[in-house]
Amino acid sequence: MRLPRLLLAAATLTALTACSGGGGGGVDGTPGAAGLRDPYFPKAGNGGYDVGHYDLTLAYDPDAEHLTGTATITARATQDLSAFNLDLKGLDVENVTVEGREARFNRAGQELTVRPPDELDDGETFRVRVRYSGEPETITDADDSEEGWLPTDDGAVGLGEPVGSMAWFPGNHHPSDKATYDLAVTVPEEYGVVSNGELTDESTSGGRTTFRWHTAEPMASYLATVAVGDWKVSRSATGDGLPVYTAVDPEQEAASRPVLAQLPAIMKWEQDTFGPYPFSSTGAIVDRRGDAGYALETQHRPYFPGAPDTGTLVHELAHQWYGDSVTPKSWRDMWLNEGFATYAEWLWSEDHGGDSAQEIFDALYDGDYFDDAAANEAVWAFPPGKPPDAAHISDSPVYQRGAMVLHRVRRTVGDDAFRALLRDWAAAHRHGNADTDDFTAFVEESAPEKDFTEIWEDWLFGDGKPERP
Ligand code: TRP
Ligand code: ZN
Repeated sequence: MRLPRLLLAAATLTALTACSGGGGGGVDGTPGAAGLRDPYFPKAGNGGYDVGHYDLTLAYDPDAEHLTGTATITARATQDLSAFNLDLKGLDVENVTVEGREARFNRAGQELTVRPPDELDDGETFRVRVRYSGEPETITDADDSEEGWLPTDDGAVGLGEPVGSMAWFPGNHHPSDKATYDLAVTVPEEYGVVSNGELTDESTSGGRTTFRWHTAEPMASYLATVAVGDWKVSRSATGDGLPVYTAVDPEQEAASRPVLAQLPAIMKWEQDTFGPYPFSSTGAIVDRRGDAGYALETQHRPYFPGAPDTGTLVHELAHQWYGDSVTPKSWRDMWLNEGFATYAEWLWSEDHGGDSAQEIFDALYDGDYFDDAAANEAVWAFPPGKPPDAAHISDSPVYQRGAMVLHRVRRTVGDDAFRALLRDWAAAHRHGNADTDDFTAFVEESAPEKDFTEIWEDWLFGDGKPERP
């Protein structure tokens, strides 16, 4: 089903190119690819350019569920380009300019093809501006989870893992292209808006308030969020002066208070365990229960659909190192996010008088970790390094068995070397991208005298349940 649509997009692009006449620029540019060949989401992202910055100006009317947006994207061409694509799902595009000049555009599925009046040269930095509006879509994924734009009882939230951010802004929606962000969102004055990074301005006029948020560190688009609602905001700082900004739905306030009170202590333990925190602020967004049945590690400030428990807060904050700062190169590397964040929960438990990681590992191996037998069996459904398809990238083999891979590495290198490895891995790829091969090579280089063959072959890539270690 994917292939015919890709072919269709390619055909449209060729037609656009063919009938275009002289563009004024070079004549040797070719269209950028319509996807980055992600093994699970082949149409996600686009070839031929690299985004440096997103400047998003949005207005949202929660009653009408209507969004109006202007996205100004600064990017650098990585080839001579006659045309390039952005990903955008739903919404109406009013116009597109490139370097301030009107550009022709075409839409096919999630692909917005832009043909600039002048070709872009390899290495050239350019600005593309897209004006758009409409009712943003809620996307149902292959695993039935909902993402994209999710209206709530008192507003809405944008959640983008794995491909939902294209429901609320056009972009290069693949984790391999990280960028900085400025986001200005205007809402009726009775609403608040929380996002990633730092709130730089808030101003009300004519019954509407504009919130300006700035993200200075590179961010994958799936980690961008905007949460519109009635927020109880609290600002503080951790012991070492890192700003903490939490936004909590009033209905969830009482339940959230005790767990959010632990945030500074969790941040301290995570910095001791994972190394320097990669971002300029921290916090949390605790929404009232809506359509999202899951928490998400939105950068700086994880999103929770209701008051989290301590383990979930530990998990989402650990993602700031593993996932948000060290981001997967493709969705196949999801276990590098979830295996690490799950192992963070185990280590937290071990360091705070709960079950040790070994005890949790044993319970999983023995099939008495989850309440029901089917869930215990499902841990062995596929290897963490190779989920069968897009419908399974958030299943327990990626989370629990991914954490078991890390525990096997720990047992092989020893506790101290493993803790150093956690920190060194986060430092080596800070604000970058990494894949599973990078990880296995990194582990092998860190302990050349050890043999990891069985861990990689049986635990990371092998089908079925490995032999008891
Ligand atoms: N990545 C999120 C976390 O572990 C959870 C998540 C996001 C999820 N989307 C999902 C879980 C879809 C199941 C299905 O922190
Ligand atoms: Zn996670």
